[in-house]
Amino acid sequence: MAEPILEVRELVKYFPLTQGILFKRQIGAVRAVDGISFGLHRGETLGIVGESGCGKSTLAKVLMNLERPTAGEVFYKGEEISRLRGAALRAVRRNIQMVFQDPYTSLNPRMTVGDIIGEPFEIHPEVAPKGDRRRAVQDLL
Ligand SMILES: Nc1ncnc2c1ncn2[C@@H]1O[C@H](COP(=O)(O)OP(=O)(O)O)[C@@H](O)[C@H]1O
Ligand SMILES: [Mg+2]
Repeated sequence: MAEPILEVRELVKYFPLTQGILFKRQIGAVRAVDGISFGLHRGETLGIVGESGCGKSTLAKVLMNLERPTAGEVFYKGEEISRLRGAALRAVRRNIQMVFQDPYTSLNPRMTVGDIIGEPFEIHPEVAPKGDRRRAVQDLL
């Protein structure tokens, strides 16, 4: 079988539980994700189901690189992405996105449609250089 597009190996995310105000002591940890592994191949869809608080959102955040894993690895097309930073992380993020249950909440009512659609080009200028941005937004519309 071909290499998976997304592969997760023994992924762990613990959140520290601390006590004290000035001198924070760690008194334990919330084991939000505790050793999950799976592979996802081209054309496949994976659903993750479980009771509230079982770690679904934390897993998604680690996959999106919004949270760093405590341990384990996330491979996107063979590249370990969970500890990338800076330009390398930005490049990978062009290929990964969240689609929220209510997509309209992603739209800022104080911005124009053109500004909303054009905003990602500020973050990824290599996709549409400044001069081409208006044009790129019009093409998308
Ligand atoms: N930033 C955080 N700090 C501490 N605990 C967290 C944090 N985020 C999530 N948790 C805890 O991790 C567990 C898993 O939460 P979550 O991933 O949101 O579950 P789900 O999305 O499946 O409902 C819960 O016990 C939650 O309270
Ligand atoms: Mg959740």
